[in-house]
Amino acid sequence: MAKDITRPDPAVVLDLLEAFRRSKTMFAAVALGVFDALENGPRPLAELAQELFANSDALERLRDAWVGLQLLKRSEAGYENTPAAAAYLCTSSPRRLTGYVGWSNAVMWKLWAHLEDAVREGTHRWKQAYGWDGPIFEHFFRDEASKREFTMGMHGYGLISSPHVVAAFDLGKFQRLIDLGGATGHLAIAACRRYLNLRAVGFDLPGVVPLAREVIGASPVDDRIDVEAGDFFTDPLPAGDLFALGRIVPDWSEDKIHQLLTRIHARLPRGGALLIAEKLLEDDKLGPRWAQMQSLNMLTCTEGKERTLAEYEALLKRAGFGEVTGCRTASPLDAVLAVKG
Ligand SMILES: C[S@@+](CC[C@H](N)C(=O)[O-])C[C@H]1O[C@@H](n2cnc3c(N)ncnc32)[C@H](O)[C@@H]1O
Repeated sequence: MAKDITRPDPAVVLDLLEAFRRSKTMFAAVALGVFDALENGPRPLAELAQELFANSDALERLRDAWVGLQLLKRSEAGYENTPAAAAYLCTSSPRRLTGYVGWSNAVMWKLWAHLEDAVREGTHRWKQAYGWDGPIFEHFFRDEASKREFTMGMHGYGLISSPHVVAAFDLGKFQRLIDLGGATGHLAIAACRRYLNLRAVGFDLPGVVPLAREVIGASPVDDRIDVEAGDFFTDPLPAGDLFALGRIVPDWSEDKIHQLLTRIHARLPRGGALLIAEKLLEDDKLGPRWAQMQSLNMLTCTEGKERTLAEYEALLKRAGFGEVTGCRTASPLDAVLAVKG
């Protein structure tokens, strides 16, 4: 039978029409504390509604939707967290992504509400959504709770990706890794766990240092990782033969990236290298979807964007680096290694 081209399949449109509702349904579950409340097993709906200060009819609708979204499962005993919800959506889990979920719900949601204006003007939406001007990380870190929330959100993603990033190349010959903007230190921890002779320094803004010390202190390699406070644009950089930038480059304008890469290049010895952890866009930029969405996310909240390997190579070569190699990983972040020739 001939295909009716006047009535194409509406599935893609219908799916996207609903997509934000699915995200918000998960955000609401985390914000309400549902997965935490079910951490030790099923509970009666009425008891849950009372504990979460929720309307029980509305909560029942949400609960059924969470089953449909594979965040809860129904057994004979009642409704319980699926393994994914238990690992990533409970605040007591070491692998939690609740910080990133909370940040998406409380902060990004309002920035994305102005995406049309971001596209018209080509700039982030902090002022429009919140009335804030000034350096972007002052917004991310507007108070202690936001800083912790944002940084632990990054940490959850980092736990999934950093072991893949440090395994993307053989880094066994390097002695001292300097992880600039290293936050909780998940990349330095993953690197030191994989390369037993490696020592590392997590370098970040002063406000992040206490949390970095806390997370690194609880890791099995804390005797090989130091934490230093500083501004990577202006302060002297620690000495090392391997630098790392994990989810840093897409935050900044091209001028600032050049400034940072040039500083790193000048600080490295010959044969030293820079490891970049980012999701690479395909050469034609038509995928992967996650990187495309993240590039739009960067538009709403930073000065930067996501890039292809060729675009990273151009930035790195302009700063003086020689050989540049990319490696796509099976995790949310890929890896790029640039060597000082
Ligand atoms: C998007 S987060 C990435 C954190 C970490 N590398 C990761 O992948 O999870 C950016 C980090 O850069 C740090 N940062 C921002 N501006 C900085 C600066 N001028 N000097 C040092 N660190 C900075 C922030 O505090 C934050 O921890």
